[in-house]
Amino acid sequence: MGIKTYKIALIGGDGTGPEVLHEAIKVIEVAARQCGFKLNTTHYDLGGNRYLKTGDLVPDSILEELRKQDAIFLGAIGHPDVKPGILEKGILLRTRFELDQYINLRPVKLYPGVKTPIKDKEPNQIDFVVVRENSAGLYTGIGGVSGKGTPQEVAIQSMVYTRHTVERCLKYAFEYTQKRNKEKTLTLCGKTNVLTYVYDLWERAFHEIGGHNFPEVKREYAHVDAITMWMVKNPEWFDVIVTGNMFGDIITDLGAMVQGGMGIAAGGNLNPEGVSMFEPIGGSAPKYTGMNVINPLACIFAGQMMLDHLGEIEASVLIEKACVSFLESGVLPGLSAKAIQEAGMSTSKIGDMIADRAACQ
Ligand code: IPM
Ligand code: MN
Repeated sequence: MGIKTYKIALIGGDGTGPEVLHEAIKVIEVAARQCGFKLNTTHYDLGGNRYLKTGDLVPDSILEELRKQDAIFLGAIGHPDVKPGILEKGILLRTRFELDQYINLRPVKLYPGVKTPIKDKEPNQIDFVVVRENSAGLYTGIGGVSGKGTPQEVAIQSMVYTRHTVERCLKYAFEYTQKRNKEKTLTLCGKTNVLTYVYDLWERAFHEIGGHNFPEVKREYAHVDAITMWMVKNPEWFDVIVTGNMFGDIITDLGAMVQGGMGIAAGGNLNPEGVSMFEPIGGSAPKYTGMNVINPLACIFAGQMMLDHLGEIEASVLIEKACVSFLESGVLPGLSAKAIQEAGMSTSKIGDMIADRAACQ
């Protein structure tokens, strides 16, 4: 029997995306060697530069190739010379939708050695996961405009949910909460006081599915506005939060700040039955492109999530330990590009130091 090999599509994308992806692959390769598996990687040149040259976003032929991978690993999408929305919709959202990656899993975890702006909170108090619905809601593009540019202009953008899209997300969230070694509490984040159709559907499905199939998972509910308050004031209250696409988008940026910043926040776009895509949450940081000063940690954590998802638990734990050991060492006074520059560190040096730690585990 040959050594287990995973087919991984690499999309460096825009700005600092390729730099952080490079470091993450470096670390993953070390973990793979240690744990006895291999990566068969294919680079796909997608992003703003290709779009500006050729008009391509994700060509259908590449989409077909992506469908055949074990996972996709993405750096970042977003180019200063391309109008906002084109690359995001044409590359990131198209891939999420076409591959039906209906879950966006975003852990919010404060690691030792990382500073949170929330005063007096310790790592054991900031450790929860947001399960964001990733295929529907306000993101379907359903809507329209009439009388554009006139005083009578009408613009409609519909929040679209079906019982099916809600149910599959909730089922994943309950199963995840059940497996997670914490309080086994799932909080539904909605807005049942105003969005009385969509979040009523979510709330009924939440209690029906939970009551019938997951009686050991405790169910809680919070309005989205209130949850932004609790995430700052009492993050220790949360174990797993499940929510719709738009609320999930917003609260996970807050989550990223609570866990120390965009330099460390990672996520996975999951199709539990298909091909999933992993990415750092932060953007392409165009002004730091090619300067070797951007923090690769978020991308390394995204890689760690990818290995976990592929079932390579030992390698995932190894990478997490290597990152923790690096963060605890205190060589980085902060996670920002500025802090990295001031400390005389660099993107590649951080990658090397974490890879070395992974090699010694
Ligand atoms: C994210 C991003 C995307 C989203 C954008 C770039 C389309 O903000 O991954 O959270 O809204 O989902
Ligand atoms: Mn976002």
